[in-house]
Amino acid sequence: MTTADSTYAPTETGRPADADWWRTAVIYQIYPRSFADADGDGTGDLPGITARLDHLADLGVDALWLSPFYPSPQRDGGYDVADYRAVDPMYGTLADFDALLARAHELDIRVIVDLVPNHCSDQHVAFRAALTAAPGSDERALFHFRDGRGPDGSLPPNDWTSMFEGPAWTRITEADGTPGQWYLHLFDPGQPDWNWDNPAVREDFETTLRFWLDRGADGFRVDVCDALVKAPGLPDWPRPTHGVIEPVDGVMPPMWDQEGIHEIFRTWRRLLDTYDGRRILCAEAWLPPERAARIIRPDEMHQAFNFRFLETPWQADGLRAVIDESLAANDAVGAPTTWVLSNHDVMRHASRFGYDGPVELEHGVGADDPQPDRPLGLRRARAATALMLALPGSAYLYQGEELGLPEATELPDTARQDPVWERSGHRIRGRDGCRVPLPWTEDGPAFGFGANPDTWLPQPSDYGSYAAAAQRDHPGSTLRLYRRLLELRRSYRLGTGNLRWLQSPHRVLHCANGSIEVMTNLGPAPVPLPPAAHVLAASAPATDHVPADTTVWFTRT
Ligand code: NOJ
Repeated sequence: MTTADSTYAPTETGRPADADWWRTAVIYQIYPRSFADADGDGTGDLPGITARLDHLADLGVDALWLSPFYPSPQRDGGYDVADYRAVDPMYGTLADFDALLARAHELDIRVIVDLVPNHCSDQHVAFRAALTAAPGSDERALFHFRDGRGPDGSLPPNDWTSMFEGPAWTRITEADGTPGQWYLHLFDPGQPDWNWDNPAVREDFETTLRFWLDRGADGFRVDVCDALVKAPGLPDWPRPTHGVIEPVDGVMPPMWDQEGIHEIFRTWRRLLDTYDGRRILCAEAWLPPERAARIIRPDEMHQAFNFRFLETPWQADGLRAVIDESLAANDAVGAPTTWVLSNHDVMRHASRFGYDGPVELEHGVGADDPQPDRPLGLRRARAATALMLALPGSAYLYQGEELGLPEATELPDTARQDPVWERSGHRIRGRDGCRVPLPWTEDGPAFGFGANPDTWLPQPSDYGSYAAAAQRDHPGSTLRLYRRLLELRRSYRLGTGNLRWLQSPHRVLHCANGSIEVMTNLGPAPVPLPPAAHVLAASAPATDHVPADTTVWFTRT
């Protein structure tokens, strides 16, 4: 087992070995339920991940982030945590976690785990105790319990809505059988919000941080970290609260980005720094870059996801603007900018870019909906990734994007698991389409995902053609493209570089990072490469021109 005594310090392979590794790291997100299934129950697990870590080493990533693998009723894909310091038997054991970590470290891959501090599961022992305790008790004070409005308390305490539709409050039945208080859940009713004004909640999370740090975890991705502190009195907010959260007349919504969150992050940072100075915190907060940057001031978290970049459609001016805006906001606080195009909450970018115009990221696509143009989507996705990986800072990849995997857009509605599908009255299909088990081999049960063909979400019948095994030795495959880009990114040290824009025709982005130049053609017509260009990598075949929807990396000879 890796413990605090055998602290990880990679040295020999050219991977960042110092305290600043995270400033340039490429971090690969694993959604454990869908990565690889070692025990054949149709659901991914930790031993499955360990067995496939060579794939990540070959790809050339610096770290992996594991979405939650904790005991959970899976009301929200594990983001409803029943025990923060254990492994769900469906995923394995703590010993399996230790083995995964040890193997990853052998391969010089760091491991980041998911911290879910805004809410737990309604099956968490503390919430179950709160349900049976009296109003006003210490047990209830760990959460946000309130009396309802109206003469008989039958109306929710305020007008907040859940991120998964419907009210953000659920009424309980008291121990004596009478209709009782309400509790707050910004997400599913199975996810009660912790009360971060209560010091006992803070202490408990510090214990959780130490638990994983002592086991050797290299850091935490922090789920909806901007929601921890709510405005005093929980005032009404009769406006939408979805997507990237913007201030209204200079005021943030009462459930997002309140000033009190920063003190919590400072405490965590001090705690992490008592280890070896190499453990990191990454903020998940759907905030505009200048607000997100406040979370990554030098004494707070290290990184924040750049969701504004992810939200930007395939359009040259918009992409250039968001790149500039992100770099400026992060430079102002001395933090690296991160880049991300896909994750487990949004339509995969290989499909997103196959639609004309903006797409609702978390809405989901059904078999009867307009389908994306697959070849176009993949072509643009490869070009977008090649642009992203040329940018200075740190980048996040989502499992399967290195295969060019499309969203599963024809899942049967009966298979859907995202809570938003039921809570929206079947209006919003949700995020299952990006969470389908990965294909590893062209054929065989579950395309190599595991021995059981009956996977927890069904795989589309053509997923085998995207399998890693089918792409490994295939020149021009998306997998080979990702490997090449990551190799060049490392050898040319693009993560620490500076971006300079160069003059370019309309709908073309042309920039330089050190000695590498990058041209992305977002227009319909090919554009010539400079005469002395020596092509190092291209998202589609390119010699003397950059074709439409293509990115080329080159140096000048
Ligand atoms: C963000 C996570 O990425 C998402 O999957 C989850 O539903 C919400 N936070 C609530 O935990």
